[in-house]
Amino acid sequence: MMNQGASAVGNKKRTVKHLIRKLYFVTTNRNKFREVQEILKPFGIRITHKNQDLLEIQSRNIDLVAQVKARDAYSRFMMNPVLVDDSGVFIDAFSGFPGVNSAYAYKTIGLDGFIRLMKGVRDRRAVFVTSVAFKPDSTHDFVFRGEVHGAIAKRLVGTRWGYDPIFIPKGHSKTYAEMGAVGKNAISHRKKAFEAFARFFNEHYCQRFK
Ligand code: IMP
Repeated sequence: MMNQGASAVGNKKRTVKHLIRKLYFVTTNRNKFREVQEILKPFGIRITHKNQDLLEIQSRNIDLVAQVKARDAYSRFMMNPVLVDDSGVFIDAFSGFPGVNSAYAYKTIGLDGFIRLMKGVRDRRAVFVTSVAFKPDSTHDFVFRGEVHGAIAKRLVGTRWGYDPIFIPKGHSKTYAEMGAVGKNAISHRKKAFEAFARFFNEHYCQRFK
């Protein structure tokens, strides 16, 4: 698994952290980049945005989709450490649709399509998932997942991006869109996934800036 070096200093064991200078966050979605930048700030992790479309395989496994995206990003960016995010909304009443096909569904039927499809559907439960894949070198890749359970709203509320106007996280009465950037970032699926990544990163890696 982890290429974790350890050396003994006196009687104390010291974990050797791997140095990473630039960490590319590869996405064509600026909203994702902004959210992730804010989530990683308190951990002292800096990311550099690379606007690049990546290979998305057909799989129902979102972790695998993210992992393959990260491998593609790693080879495109000259073996520089990379971070990618694959997200989707999994609706219970539709057996998980749109899930890994959330981008396609958004572009085709759109949010209005979902409101229409769910008219009269009583079970409105859904899960918003982010899978983060981190590829630091040619031999390792690590995946972290964040999930938020919630419900699909009966109409569009608020005006943020993607599925934010129709997703109401459990225990809240507002959609992600109504919560605004700060409110959403405090509880979101993306926050959970990237916090898990950040804790792992700070334990095993360090960043030094020129
Ligand atoms: P992907 O991760 O870029 O494949 O995103 C799949 C779809 O979900 C796209 O339509 C995104 O706009 C949307 N999406 C991803 N994350 C979020 C989010 O946090 N809020 C709202 N929509 C999202």
